[in-house]
Amino acid sequence: PRVAVVFGGRNSEHAISVLTAGSVLGAIDRAKYEVLPIGITADGRWALAVDDPARMAIEDRRLPSVEDLSESDTGGVLLPVSPESREVVHTEPGQVPKALGEVDVVFPVLHGPFGEDGTIQGLLEMSGVPYVGAGVLASAVGMDKEYMKRILTSFGLPVGPYLTVRPREWEVDPSAVRKKVVDFGGEHGWPVFVKPARAGSSVGISKVAGIGGIDEAFEKARRYDPKVIVEALLRGREIECGVLEFEEGPRASVPAEIPPAGEHGFYDFETKYIDSASGLVPAPLTEEQTARVRELSVRAFEAASCEGLVRADFFLCGDGEFVINEINTMPGFTPISMYPRMWQESGVSYPELVDRLIQAALN
Ligand code: DAL
Ligand code: MG
Repeated sequence: PRVAVVFGGRNSEHAISVLTAGSVLGAIDRAKYEVLPIGITADGRWALAVDDPARMAIEDRRLPSVEDLSESDTGGVLLPVSPESREVVHTEPGQVPKALGEVDVVFPVLHGPFGEDGTIQGLLEMSGVPYVGAGVLASAVGMDKEYMKRILTSFGLPVGPYLTVRPREWEVDPSAVRKKVVDFGGEHGWPVFVKPARAGSSVGISKVAGIGGIDEAFEKARRYDPKVIVEALLRGREIECGVLEFEEGPRASVPAEIPPAGEHGFYDFETKYIDSASGLVPAPLTEEQTARVRELSVRAFEAASCEGLVRADFFLCGDGEFVINEINTMPGFTPISMYPRMWQESGVSYPELVDRLIQAALN
């Protein structure tokens, strides 16, 4: 089969996506699959990329970007526009479109907005091309922290206290919002986290200690999304668990534990990607806790109607209860990322994981 690996993208997780794509391209079984690497630049142009995993790595603490990997700087790759044709076309201004051949499946190795949020999934549905991972709804649910919490709650999963501030509320009456946040902090304790409702990888997030920090935090969050979520600080251990779809249904990996926060006060972008993550796999949990978090993870997968894979992130709170913080329908998976490490520890190697995800999409 011919696999188009689509990566990069117009969002703050561009570089993470390139890193994951480099790992996927390096691990994909070339005897079994033919690969077509397609990058999306940070400003949204599609480009035929070089098939060179070595150039998709961190070099001297410098993150990779599609801009440096394009075969042409204008890009212009079009995915098939009708279900009759799975032909991918490369167009450049003033030139005859060049056919790149048909693809059998697309692996959208994209994180965050315009990638993990249902948008490219919708495009692929319209094109009639199978793709790896969650569909339109599950992707959108996984990207929007408000609806994610609403869905998970309605399926009986424990989520932490939160407050949604819709765009118009802040625009029309910021002082009413300030009051709501102050009441929320009063009820659930300070500090609170202020986050863009739809963004990824810790961008736009502030830890707010009181009324004085609210405006700045909202301004920062609203740079990424006019809808803002306020969350209570959950005191507890950070536990993650991977779910992978097998023929007989979704299965949970062994869980992992993320060690307590770095200097920024939460599991931030730097710790996550530049310094290699130091998560403990498997998490040192009791048998009962392990079983519980695995069960909750599969339930979260089902609640959001995920497909292929998901990583569910939890807090194990002081009272011994797990609270689900979020799901990621396309978690980062360079070999040092938690998702593949958890599967490695559960007996599924990185190349097997890539193969299983592609096969699940093809079947
Ligand atoms: N959003 C990043 C890629 C993750 O969850 O791994
Ligand atoms: Mg996420």
